[in-house]
Parts: sequence; structure tokens; C-alpha cells
Amino acid sequence: MLVNTFHFQPVNRNLLKKFQDRINIEYHSRNVGYYHLPNSGTKIIEDIKNWQNSLENIDSIAVIGVGGSSLGAKAISAMLACDKKFGTPNLFFLENIDPIAINATLSKLKFSKTLFLLISKSGTTLDTISIVKIIMEKFRLYPGDKEFANHFAVITDNDSALCKFADEYGLKTFFISRNVGGRFSVLSAVGLVPLTLCGFNTENLLKGAAECESDFFEKGDMTILQKAYAYINAKETINVLFSYSNVFKAFNEWYIQLWAESLGKKKGAKNIGLTPIGLIGAIDQHSFLQLIIDGPKDKSVTFIRIKEMKGDMTIPNFSLKYIEKADIRSNISASKLLNEQALATMKSLIDSGVTTDEITLDKLDAYHVGYLIYYYELLTSACGIMMGVNPYNQPGVEIGKKILIRKLGKYTNAVKKS
Ligand code: PA5
Repeated sequence: MLVNTFHFQPVNRNLLKKFQDRINIEYHSRNVGYYHLPNSGTKIIEDIKNWQNSLENIDSIAVIGVGGSSLGAKAISAMLACDKKFGTPNLFFLENIDPIAINATLSKLKFSKTLFLLISKSGTTLDTISIVKIIMEKFRLYPGDKEFANHFAVITDNDSALCKFADEYGLKTFFISRNVGGRFSVLSAVGLVPLTLCGFNTENLLKGAAECESDFFEKGDMTILQKAYAYINAKETINVLFSYSNVFKAFNEWYIQLWAESLGKKKGAKNIGLTPIGLIGAIDQHSFLQLIIDGPKDKSVTFIRIKEMKGDMTIPNFSLKYIEKADIRSNISASKLLNEQALATMKSLIDSGVTTDEITLDKLDAYHVGYLIYYYELLTSACGIMMGVNPYNQPGVEIGKKILIRKLGKYTNAVKKS
């Protein structure tokens, strides 16, 4: 179960009704595709599994993609790392056109045993396509070669240029519906293909997401709307996600993209937005926390913690000479200490008047992760609706891309056709 407890005063439900109606209309219009992914995903998983039977000798899946095309699967695979079954392919990510990172990842891959998943909704993202070319060159395998389709598969929009390319060279292709935005696409083929191929329980992932969908749209649970309303109306415009376990590092990155690209927008002549920050507890209690406590009061904080942590261990109950100050009298576990640290930090923030809330997950399995992912997607949509902005576009990101293309124009004469 996922429980979100507020340490602020919820507002009267009547105030939220109009926003609930608006998001319901959006849901039923089917214009926003991610809402319905928990349902449509089951068929995709079936297709993936059928295809997987034909893949031979693959021990590594390498996603080539960036932003919404990589962060979701990266977040989920990290949160479920303890559930990974022995003997299933390992998952790698080639996201950045950074030679150091590319070399480091490629050094772990055996080409003959690797399937590269080329993921791009638009199909033309420069970084992604450039990494693909580097890989082709490194392994001397080019479009049209006999082995090409055994090592490359594609996930993209069904009318993108990349789709045409995949068609031409016989690559296995999965599609992203037009109405599913990049950063909201993790429960589509974008996340389901790599995760299923690597043996993660994607059926349960979708079940968790479907439960959240039902709680919100069928049962009318207003928790998400309450939380969104608090964020929109709080004095703080920076939203800190304080996640208590290292496994949440990539989830924090996913949240930062989702929040920043969806909610940083122009509204008429105004520039508005909420600023996401992702922290890891208890590590960041020893760093960033100082700024939250004594710095400007411009940050709200959401704590995420797991009640039952896998592989828990007892902290031995013996003293070390001279450092008795760090003794804990009874045999408590590492997860108990981690959770107590979260609770103590939270209490200090509540006492100092910071807008604070807490998400507790009974455990971290595919079902709970699916629920959490969908929960944050809905929260983002709810905030967008309350702010009166379109959370599904990213015009600001496009400006830089256009400038880059102009700057690179001078190199285009040298391009060889493949
Ligand atoms: O959310 C988004 O739309 C973006 O962050 C994209 O996911 C990112 O730019 C990658 O784009 P594409 O999947 O088209 O390669």
C-alpha cells in the first residue's frame, strides 16, 4: 500500500471539485494517452514476450535514448534491482553524448550478446542518433548488414522518421501512441520493452498503476488533488523529494524531469513554475538539509520511505571503545534506523513550519513502484491543471535544440549517407 500523509491542513473538498472535474474530462477525452497505459500495456507485454522467444543468445539490453525515453525505465529498474531474477539480461543505458560515459558502458557489453534498443519518440533526437552511429561504427555493423536486425530494435512514434528507417531495414519496432508524451511514457513500450526483456515483473507494475488509476478516477480519492493544491498555493515554490534509499536516485531524476518540463511554463506574460529537487536520505541529511532548515523558507518537502526493506540487517549491539556515543542500546535494524532518521528530520521540518508530507510504501515491489509512478504522473497533471498551464509540451527545450541545429549547419556538408 502507498499512504500519503499530510502535515499541513487539507482544504475543503468542494474547493477541489472543479479541478477533479477537469482532470476527469481530460481522462475521458482520451487526448492524454498516458492515463490509459495501465490498461493497454498488457497486450504490449504479450507481444514483447512472444518476440523475446525469438531472440537468441542475448545477455545485455542497452537502451539508447534520453529524457523521457530512458529515465523511467532507469528509475524502475533501480527501484526493483533486488527483484531481478538470476540469468535475465542486464540493462544498460546510453543516454548522454559523453565519450567517457559511452566508453564506460560499452566496455561492459559484449556486442554479440547485446540488443540495442533505440528509443526516441520524435525519432530524430540528435544525441540519441549520434550515439547509435558511434555504436554502428565501433562494432562495424551498418544498416542493411545481415546481422543488423539481430542487434538493433526501435521504439518510436508510428509516423516518425525513425519508424521509416526501422521499416526499411527490417528492425523490430514497438510504437508510442501519439498522445503519450515522452516524460509520461514509461508505462508504454518505452519502459515495458526493456524492463520485460530484463525479467522485471511488468504485469505487476501495470497492476499497481491501474490501482492508482482506479483510486483516483473511479473511487474519487482526492489525496493527489489535495497535495497538488497545497503545492500550488504554498509560499514555497521549490519542491524537495527526500527519498530514503539509494534505490530512489534514478526515480528522483525521473521526477525532476517530469516536474520541471511539465510545470515550468510561460503563462501569458508571466514565467511560472515549481522547481524540483531530489535528495537521498539519510545521505543528504549530512549536506542539503542545512539549507532547508536555516536557509530561505522557499522549499516544501515530501519524504518517501519504505517500511519493509529487502535484505535488512541488524546493527550489532556492542560498544566500540571511545566511541560509545554512537551506541544504540537495542538490536535495531538498518532500515529501522533509516526510517527513524526520516521521521526525526521530518519532525524538525514540521516544527519549523515547512510544508511537509510523507509517502510510505509498505514495500518496494513492482506493484508499489507502478502505483508510485502513476501517482506522480497524476500529481503532475493535477498541478498543471491547477496552474492553468499545459503540462504536456516543452517549448523551452525546443529553443536550444533549434540553436544547436543552426550552429551545426556548417558541418552538414561533410555528412556521408549510410
Ligand atoms: O519529455 C520529453 O518529451 C523529452 O524529455 C523527451 O523525452 C526527450 O527530449 C527525448 O526525446 P525523444 O524521445 O523524441 O528522443
